[in-house]
Amino acid sequence: MNESLLDRRLRVIGKGAPLFYEEPLHIVRGEGVWLFDAQGRRYLDAYNNVAVVGHCHPRVVEAIARQTATLNVHTRYLHENVVRYAERLTVTFDGQDMAVFTCTGSEANELALRMARMFTGKEGIICTNNTYHGNTAAVDELSTTFTDGRTGSARVRSVLFPESYRPLRGLQGADLLNAYVDEVRLAILDLQRGGFGVAGMLVCPIFANEGLPEVPAGYLERVAQLVRDAGGLVIFDEVQAGFGRTGHYWGHQMPGGITPDIATLGKPMGNGYPIAGVVSRAEIVNTFRDRVMYFNTFGGNPVACAAALAVLDVIEDEKLIERVRDVGSYMTEALRALMATHEQIGDVRSKGTFWAVELVKNRAAKTPAPDLANAVVNRMRQHGVLISAQGMYRNVLKIRPPLPFATEHADFLLETLERSLAESIDG
Ligand SMILES: Cc1ncc(COP(=O)(O)O)c(C=O)c1O
Repeated sequence: MNESLLDRRLRVIGKGAPLFYEEPLHIVRGEGVWLFDAQGRRYLDAYNNVAVVGHCHPRVVEAIARQTATLNVHTRYLHENVVRYAERLTVTFDGQDMAVFTCTGSEANELALRMARMFTGKEGIICTNNTYHGNTAAVDELSTTFTDGRTGSARVRSVLFPESYRPLRGLQGADLLNAYVDEVRLAILDLQRGGFGVAGMLVCPIFANEGLPEVPAGYLERVAQLVRDAGGLVIFDEVQAGFGRTGHYWGHQMPGGITPDIATLGKPMGNGYPIAGVVSRAEIVNTFRDRVMYFNTFGGNPVACAAALAVLDVIEDEKLIERVRDVGSYMTEALRALMATHEQIGDVRSKGTFWAVELVKNRAAKTPAPDLANAVVNRMRQHGVLISAQGMYRNVLKIRPPLPFATEHADFLLETLERSLAESIDG
């Protein structure tokens, strides 16, 4: 008997390598917001932000093919693509005028940490208690999603992420804001007492991995002030929040956001072609460049930049950010309407076309329902819609489709969600 693809994978890649869904998917083709499996069945992709302008977008495919057929080489020659891309990228920021390119979001965060530590002369970093920023050794010190919320590093402090749904000690309003700000104040003191000082605070501006919480108004501004007063830098991980996802170019450009000192970018940047990077002010980048001969063989090579340029072209020409705003509010309203008939939906949060649907056993007690979330995710996959679950208690449905997601796709998703919820509750 032929060994299945799954068995072969388990044998050579190992069972520790994560695979989505109880019945793993074997995807062979993508087009727009659709994915097709080996049997030709189609799935609505409501999860993948990497294919930000849609799977296999013809303009990105063409740009990659054309550049691959012309030249691809490491990054120590003059090339128009990387310069043009850095120019076009930096004008979408407010005050960050230089870029450094890498291949992955992990590398970008690693580089941001090195830059912050070098610029400030300090070591300490603050992150949240339910986050993921990547897999390199230095970045792994901050990734608290797969631990009990604490970091394994003496030079890193994790603070409770700010939220209003399960507010700290049941506080509200200004008291709640002050309590979360105090978390950062204490972390700063502790790092200073430990002799590390504060190099910076690294967070996602929309707290995506934390479950997209409703953040008490004024939080980012207040903590940024504390961090900067302590001599540290504000670093925003835009790997999930960036490239139009929120209805703004960058997550930190949403109302209530603030301008960071360093931003890190990744996933959607090349629509699947590996390219990531750091964007910052010249004084920060140059302090690093003056001391370190940093180069990255593949990061920002001619093909990577051709892909990334095409992504910007499509976002702008197809007016995807405007579309995100329209479809975003359409589906948010519809999801909220479902709360009237579905006691299990405890909360619906959204930023553009990024939704977090909090499933609970009891709406008043807000008891997380991770088993229900898992059942719904797997039912939806069976019915042809791909989403995932995340959050502190793994009970938050994570919905984050490619940006060409339209209202008809939202309708199909909503129908499938209702059906899957009903089946999961009955079954
Ligand atoms: C917010 C955030 N930052 C960084 C990363 C790491 O990116 P990469 O897998 O490209 O190294 C991830 C990956 O999931 C992420 O979600």
